[in-house]
Amino acid sequence: MSHHPAAVIILAAGEGTRMKSATPKVLHRIGGRSLLGHAMHAARQVSPQHLAVVVRHEREQVAAHVAELDPTAIVADQDEIKGTGRACECGLDALPADLTGTVLVTMGDVPLLTTETLADLTARHESSGAAVTVITAELPDAKAYGRVVRDEAGDVLQIMEFKDALAHRESGSEFAHVVDIREINSGIYAFDAQVLRSALAEVGTDNAQGEKYITDVVAIARRDGRKVAAHLVEDLWQTEGVNDRVQLATLGKELNRRTVEHWMREGVTVVDPGTTWIDAEVTIGRDTVIRPNVQLLGATTIGADAMIGPDSTLTDTEVADGASVVRAQTELATIGPGATVGPFSYLRPGTVLGAKGKIGAFVETKNAQIGDGAKVPHLTYCGDATIDEGANIGAGTIFANYDGVNKHHTHVGRHSFVGSDSVLVAPVDIADGAYVAAGSAITGEVGPGQIAVARGRQRNVDGWVARRRAGTKTAAAAEAAIGGEAPHTAQESEAGQTAGTPDADQNADTTPTQEH
Ligand code: UD1
Ligand code: CA
Repeated sequence: MSHHPAAVIILAAGEGTRMKSATPKVLHRIGGRSLLGHAMHAARQVSPQHLAVVVRHEREQVAAHVAELDPTAIVADQDEIKGTGRACECGLDALPADLTGTVLVTMGDVPLLTTETLADLTARHESSGAAVTVITAELPDAKAYGRVVRDEAGDVLQIMEFKDALAHRESGSEFAHVVDIREINSGIYAFDAQVLRSALAEVGTDNAQGEKYITDVVAIARRDGRKVAAHLVEDLWQTEGVNDRVQLATLGKELNRRTVEHWMREGVTVVDPGTTWIDAEVTIGRDTVIRPNVQLLGATTIGADAMIGPDSTLTDTEVADGASVVRAQTELATIGPGATVGPFSYLRPGTVLGAKGKIGAFVETKNAQIGDGAKVPHLTYCGDATIDEGANIGAGTIFANYDGVNKHHTHVGRHSFVGSDSVLVAPVDIADGAYVAAGSAITGEVGPGQIAVARGRQRNVDGWVARRRAGTKTAAAAEAAIGGEAPHTAQESEAGQTAGTPDADQNADTTPTQEH
């Protein structure tokens, strides 16, 4: 039998002052998701009929975030009456008035709580017939948590807030011992909807903080002869909330440890779990190897048999099977099967690298479709470009896509070859099977089968060193190389018209090192 609660209410109206932040606490992020996002994710996965998030502090920002994450979630506003009880009541008021069944209450700042725990809570609550089931934990130091007070039979009698427990100790009442109880209230509960609604209507604010406490529902339910159960969880991380930046980092690290462990158990080799950061939504295929210092962020997906790292940050990037990404930074990029990226590559949004393509060292790409087997191996900026299958872009090529006002596109056709140190001043269209000579500044079309040469011709001036650098080591070296026969008269020649491209027409007359 599967247990789906009627509703989950997530309390997220509190201030979170200890974060000392302009950002509302529940919008701080770990594992690529806001704290509230983690709570909503866990809640949604237990398939409740209704999901409500109670907001108040920084209402607009938090409500907008809720709507973005889950447009079907209900945003419930808490009024000026303070406390978890009032927050819960405001959540209930946003749900159908005739709601029956189980209502789970969780908190927006407890990010490691899992769906499994919520499903367990629901199942135990429903099978035990309790009106209230509270998740509790035994802590070595119960700090300021609410204490779980049990009767002689071991049943939960009430939950007493720390400040109230302290007051009882000071007054030496029959509850003086409560402050020493180590079983604490996690703040996560399952309630019978009708019991919750009627009990909350009775809860007052006569306590140390002057707030309406949700925890008072326990004592009211007991008074009315209802059963209250506790569900003790062993995994203390799941009930830990974030109150300050230290806890944010601590829980973030533990969440990451869990995520990394999950992927190792799924067949991913992680060489150094301690320096590997994987966001909650990332997926990774089997036999992929993650080397040290890697961050896989956002909606990144990695295929099987891939190699990532070392020293790489991939954000919202898709890496296909068998690809390798070494010392790279990528964002909103797609890397095809068997393709290679790096070392020292920067792939910006809109980069799509085809199967077995290559983006090599010191290459930056943006809005660039680089076809199957195409290569951009060294020292290149490639923006707003389509490079077709098998094309090769020489070292130091710049795709000059921006004229200061507009961006323009460059196309390089199939199996074309752009010589080193060229600048392609967009818009440029280089056809299939074309060549660009090294060092060219290309400003127009290049047709199929053509070579474009767009640079100054080389001029060699004989005897220049002897005349203008006489007495230097260079002049001596020239003299030694030339020997006695050298004519030291001024004479010029042209050379190397298309040098730098492998099949340029080169002969004895046009080599750049010709002698006379
Ligand atoms: C609460 C419990 C305490 C428990 C602890 C676990 C009560 C009275 N006490 O204490 O027994 O051990 O959680 O962490 O419930 N919130 C609202 N509106 C409010 C006040 C709080 O939405 O007016 C939300 C907060 O955003 C937060 C959650 O409720 O997500 C808990 O509030 P917090 O003030 O941290 O409760 P505690 O005093 O820590
Ligand atoms: Ca708290």
